[in-house]
Amino acid sequence: MSTTTTFELVEQFISDKFCKEDRALKSVADSLSDAGISNISVSPTLGKLLYLLASLTQAKRVLEIGTLGGYSTIWLARGVANGGSVLSLEFSPQHAELAQANLRRARLDKIAKVQVGDAREILEGMARKGAGPFDLVFIDADKESYPRYLQLSLKLTHSGSIIVADNVVRKGAVLSKESDDPRVVAVRKFLDTLSGTKSLQTTVLQTVGAKGHDGVSISVVTGPASRRNGKPPRRRSR
Ligand SMILES: C[S@@+](CC[C@H](N)C(=O)[O-])C[C@H]1O[C@@H](n2cnc3c(N)ncnc32)[C@H](O)[C@@H]1O
Repeated sequence: MSTTTTFELVEQFISDKFCKEDRALKSVADSLSDAGISNISVSPTLGKLLYLLASLTQAKRVLEIGTLGGYSTIWLARGVANGGSVLSLEFSPQHAELAQANLRRARLDKIAKVQVGDAREILEGMARKGAGPFDLVFIDADKESYPRYLQLSLKLTHSGSIIVADNVVRKGAVLSKESDDPRVVAVRKFLDTLSGTKSLQTTVLQTVGAKGHDGVSISVVTGPASRRNGKPPRRRSR
């Protein structure tokens, strides 16, 4: 039995035991396949982690960057505290429409809203207006923009907020300093900023299974907004 198969079998075993999908969650995959859109939603185990993080922090306001068919949005919306809400940003009108239908099917359309547009522009506008703060931010859109999403997320959160980002290991490509893949370059910069920002405490969990080898970063914001600019610290000159 190959190692990959073992990873997949164990992931399935964990999903069956702890992350059971109901009809609403299962139908997201069907809706994507019917529309000819590749299913790059998070796995059930990561979906459940998002649910747990929202529940543990009793999140009232959740921001998601990258909706696709609304699979992770459903997990997040189910985890928010009573009266809580999820705002999910999606560039593609087709994806947004599909997600809205899936949220309606899950009876979560009052809790979770999808806003169509370029997340960078939407977030910049929100930061200018002093929107937020959000208790939990989930970053899962274009990897090239992760460093900017982090800067903007730091402006839209408070001490105690959680920032989660998917796909930060990229089959180990994250190790490659010389990579010319703009996604790898951006993810490395994103991780450098996470590690260099004093007001963030972070870990990265490697993920393996049906979606291959990747990873998710989980950070807690520990400091006041004034100390946070989302840039790596300047090196001291000697
Ligand atoms: C990995 S998928 C999101 C999966 C979703 N979080 C889930 O697990 O169900 C990434 C999504 O981000 C969207 N996206 C890409 N660039 C974007 C941008 N600049 N602004 C907003 N959404 C973007 C894509 O259209 C795609 O639907």
